Amino acid sequence: MSSISSTAAIFTPLSSLRRALFPSGQKPHFPHLSNTRFCRFGVKCSYADISIKEVSDSMIDVVADVKTERVVVLGGSGFVGSAICKVAVSKGIEVISLSRSGRPSYSGSWVDQVTWMTGDVFYANWDEVLAGATAVVSTLGGFGSEEQMQRINGEANVVAVTAAKDFGIPKFILISVHDYNLPPFLLSSGYFTGKRKAESEVLSKFPNSGVVLRPGFIYGKRRVDGFEIPLDLIGEPVEKFLSAAENFIKPLSSLPASDLLLAPPVSVDDVAFAVINGLKDDDFFGIFTIEQIKEAAAKVRV
Ligand SMILES: NC(=O)c1ccc[n+]([C@@H]2O[C@H](COP(=O)([O-])OP(=O)(O)OC[C@H]3O[C@@H](n4cnc5c(N)ncnc54)[C@H](OP(=O)(O)O)[C@@H]3O)[C@@H](O)[C@H]2O)c1
Repeated sequence: MSSISSTAAIFTPLSSLRRALFPSGQKPHFPHLSNTRFCRFGVKCSYADISIKEVSDSMIDVVADVKTERVVVLGGSGFVGSAICKVAVSKGIEVISLSRSGRPSYSGSWVDQVTWMTGDVFYANWDEVLAGATAVVSTLGGFGSEEQMQRINGEANVVAVTAAKDFGIPKFILISVHDYNLPPFLLSSGYFTGKRKAESEVLSKFPNSGVVLRPGFIYGKRRVDGFEIPLDLIGEPVEKFLSAAENFIKPLSSLPASDLLLAPPVSVDDVAFAVINGLKDDDFFGIFTIEQIKEAAAKVRV
């Protein structure tokens, strides 16, 4: 995906500016301007947030903070979703989150920069949620009864992919899961069958842009009921150990279910950065393994 955010200072007559901003001919109501005066405009896009200051009688100064990317994160209030929202905001991307709980209770400057929508993906008003979106990222998923797992990992994502496709959104990124080298009878649980159903929906509806990330255990600081669970205390050392012992471990990975122990954990920030890479790189589509998630993250992590 191309340019992200830019700030431009443009000197132009008011009549040209008006034509550019309001091509349909509708006139903006700026009572302190006349057609013949010139002034300083401050324009924040993609959805015009305009402020105006008079500078001189001869020129106007247009300052435009143009955000050309608008990403909708389904489940942006969750563990992985909030990391994605935070990193996306830091990259100047406009972010909308949809979840049943809406805005999280904790605070932070990035939290204020996200538009938090409250709603259930099964009953979402997609006109509102997807208006102007350039990409959808789904973190919808979870555990429960067979039926619940099918519903949230599978059906919820199918609904979202279908809505995104119908609205002509160019890109869909799904947070799926590694298969842990499990034998087929264990992969038949609602969790995995739901995930695979969602994956095939993404890949068939977005064959040239759909992204499926398959992380294993994701570590970071998970917030639960106002408390932080430091999963990084386990995940980070395990990741380092498995990386150091890679050469000894590789031959074992052909054993069924060996990845339950041997699949390297990945940090929640790496998952978020891999998503950002997916948003920015048009050639980044298809299914991505744990290693590929880390490589993609490294490309955009600064
Ligand atoms: N955490 C891991 O170690 C790990 C590993 C591999 C893969 N994954 C996958 O990564 C994804 C994110 O995991 P996570 O740990 O971040 O999960 P999480 O913290 O439970 O986040 C899930 C998000 O989805 C939202 N959600 C659930 N049902 C919804 C609905 N019907 N409508 C709208 N929003 C809904 C939740 O908010 P509300 O409840 O407020 O609606 C929450 O924001 C999942 O698909 C998971 O399977 C996670």
